[in-house]
Amino acid sequence: MSRRFLREIFIVFLNLLVSDVLCANQQSPLPQEKWSFDRIFGTFDRAELQRGFQVYQQVCSTCHGLSHISYRHLKALGFSEAKIKAIAAQKEVQDGVDEEGNPIKRGGKPSDYFPNPFVNEKAARAANNGANPPDLSLIIKARKGGPHYVKALLKGYTDPPSGIQLAPGMSYNLYFSGHQIAMAPPLSDHLVQYADGTPATVDQMAHDVVTFLAWASEPEMEERKHLGVKILTYLLVFTVLMGLIKRQTWRRLEE
Ligand code: HEC
Repeated sequence: MSRRFLREIFIVFLNLLVSDVLCANQQSPLPQEKWSFDRIFGTFDRAELQRGFQVYQQVCSTCHGLSHISYRHLKALGFSEAKIKAIAAQKEVQDGVDEEGNPIKRGGKPSDYFPNPFVNEKAARAANNGANPPDLSLIIKARKGGPHYVKALLKGYTDPPSGIQLAPGMSYNLYFSGHQIAMAPPLSDHLVQYADGTPATVDQMAHDVVTFLAWASEPEMEERKHLGVKILTYLLVFTVLMGLIKRQTWRRLEE
C-alpha cells in the first residue's frame, strides 16, 4: 500500500471522527419517552391519535402538509364515516381549473388527500422567514430519534445562551441542528380545547401530535405487528409439532 493511500485513509478517518464529535456536541441528548406504539405488541392509543389529529389540524396544518394521508384514512383513528365527511368538508381543495384558467375550489371529500397549506415552495418560504416547513407525512421516519426527537423539538424552545445572537425572526431550540430554527414555538398551554376534557398542556399536545404523526408515517404498523405475531405463533406451533413427530419416528426405529 502506498504511503499516499494510507495518508488519505487517515485523513478520511480523522474527518469522520471530528465531524462525529462536533455533531455529538451540537445537540442535547434526547429525552426518552414511552409510547403506546412501542414494542412488539404496541398499538396506537386511539384517544391519543384523535387528540393528536386535532392538534395537527388546528395548529400544524397552517404551515405543514401531510400529503400521504387522505381523509378516508382517518377511519383508522376511530372516526365514523359521517365525522370524516364533516372533517373533510371543513377544508377547501383545488379541483382543476375553469375555462378561464382560474383554479376551481370546492369543499373536501373523504377521498381527497390533505391539501398543502401553500401553493408552492416559494410562497411557503416567503411566509416562513425563508424556511420551507417540511411535509410531515414521513417526518418520524426521516429524523434520527423519530418520535423522541419531534417531541423534544416541540418542547425544546429556550432563551439563547448569553453571547448567542439570533438572526431576525429565528428562535432558539435545544434540539434543532444548529439551534436556530425558523419555526416559532408552535405550542403553548391550552392552545386547543380537547373534546375529551384532557388538559391541553404543551407536553400533552406534543405527545398526542407525535403519536398521530407516527401513525401517519406508518398507518399499516398494527397490521404488520399482528402479522408478525401470527407468523411467530405459527412457527412455534410448527416447531413443537415437528419435534413431537421426530420423537415419535425415532422411538419406533429404536424399538
Ligand atoms: C407558523 C408556521 C408553523 C407552524 C404552525 C408549525 N410549524 Fe413546524 N416548521 C415551520 C418551519 C418554517 C419549519 C422549518 C424550520 C427551519 O428549517 O428552520 C418547521 C419545521 C418543523 C419540523 C422539522 C424540524 C427538522 O428537524 O428539520 C418539524 C418536525 C415540525 N416543524 C413540526 C411541527 C409540528 C408538529 C407543528 C404543530 C404542533 C408545527 N411544526 C407547527 C413552521 C411551522
